[in-house]
Amino acid sequence: MKILVTGGTGYIGSHTVVELQAKGYEVVIVDDLSNSSVEVLDHIAEITGKRPVFEQFDLKDALKTSAFFSKHSDLGGIIHFAAFKAVGESVEFPLKYYQNNLVSLINILQGMMENKIRNIVFSSSCTVYGQPDKLPVKEDAPVQKAWSPYGNTKQISEEIISDTSKASGIDGILLRYFNPIGAHETALIGELPLGVPNSLMPYITQTAIGIRPFLRVWGSDYDTPDGTAIRDYLHVTDLAVAHVIAVERMLNGKMKQKVEVFNLGTGNGFSVMQVIESFERSTGVKLNYQIMDRRPGDIEKVWADTEFANKELGWKAVKSLDEMTASAWKWEKVLAQKGKG
Ligand code: UD1
Repeated sequence: MKILVTGGTGYIGSHTVVELQAKGYEVVIVDDLSNSSVEVLDHIAEITGKRPVFEQFDLKDALKTSAFFSKHSDLGGIIHFAAFKAVGESVEFPLKYYQNNLVSLINILQGMMENKIRNIVFSSSCTVYGQPDKLPVKEDAPVQKAWSPYGNTKQISEEIISDTSKASGIDGILLRYFNPIGAHETALIGELPLGVPNSLMPYITQTAIGIRPFLRVWGSDYDTPDGTAIRDYLHVTDLAVAHVIAVERMLNGKMKQKVEVFNLGTGNGFSVMQVIESFERSTGVKLNYQIMDRRPGDIEKVWADTEFANKELGWKAVKSLDEMTASAWKWEKVLAQKGKG
């Protein structure tokens, strides 16, 4: 069975390709390499013994996308990761985000309709919940007005898929990720942030390796036990496995609705300080950090209610926070050895 993974050389995409290939799926990657490197293909091949088929083009290009789908009309399903994801940049360049993230999705859905390809798994985010009133947050919690154009593209994409599904044979699974961190156990693939990272985990490992002088802890006056903000961190391999399960649910006709939504997290919230402590414990490395003011736009606390994903998908995140922070460190050290850190 052939599966298209858009953004398959990216962080979550590459881990998902590895898990798909391990299960015997034939993978085709489409990526424009705007935020990833072609060498990732070699590393996937090193892990799995198989090099995925790769096509480099921009999914915003309607003609190229249409030609691709005509050529691959035998696809069993699509996992769509390819998107821009920097929150701050999206505030500065909103049209770049709306154009890239939405036009690509529209072109893919068009290609699916034209070639009668039924199944799409979409990479959404817990950002759609904003600061939820009730924690842990369930899938039926209200979607709150997006704070950033990036967040808005996730919300609008969910709506585009739902509306298209109602009017066509297309089925969708929308996966709302909490905070994926860590890297593959081989340290052959992982997160490769361009420039200064915005996310916590790469900032921690880059500080520990000496690229950054200290971590800035954004805010210590939140209404949380230690005053720092709380998130639900999950290991990227656990997250990747959930995509394979979602694809199989679609292929095996197990869906109960034409569009289903699942939270993907561990169900446990950890504060920024707890992540720092875990990093120090799991690696033996001391981290320089300074407490700063809150980062504008950050929410105070969020973690997932994972009951629906656990029961319906039969999926559970199994890796501990210490395993996540240790694997992120192993990856950072490999990057440093290769002179890429
Ligand atoms: C961010 C985005 C979210 C997106 C997700 C995907 C915002 C407001 N949200 O989530 O929409 O889906 O990334 O990657 O940008 N922290 C520090 N110091 C740092 C970096 C982070 O203290 O240098 C703190 C943050 O304040 C936050 C936590 O660490 O409390 C996690 O931050 P981050 O990794 O950026 O993820 P989110 O903000 O949850």
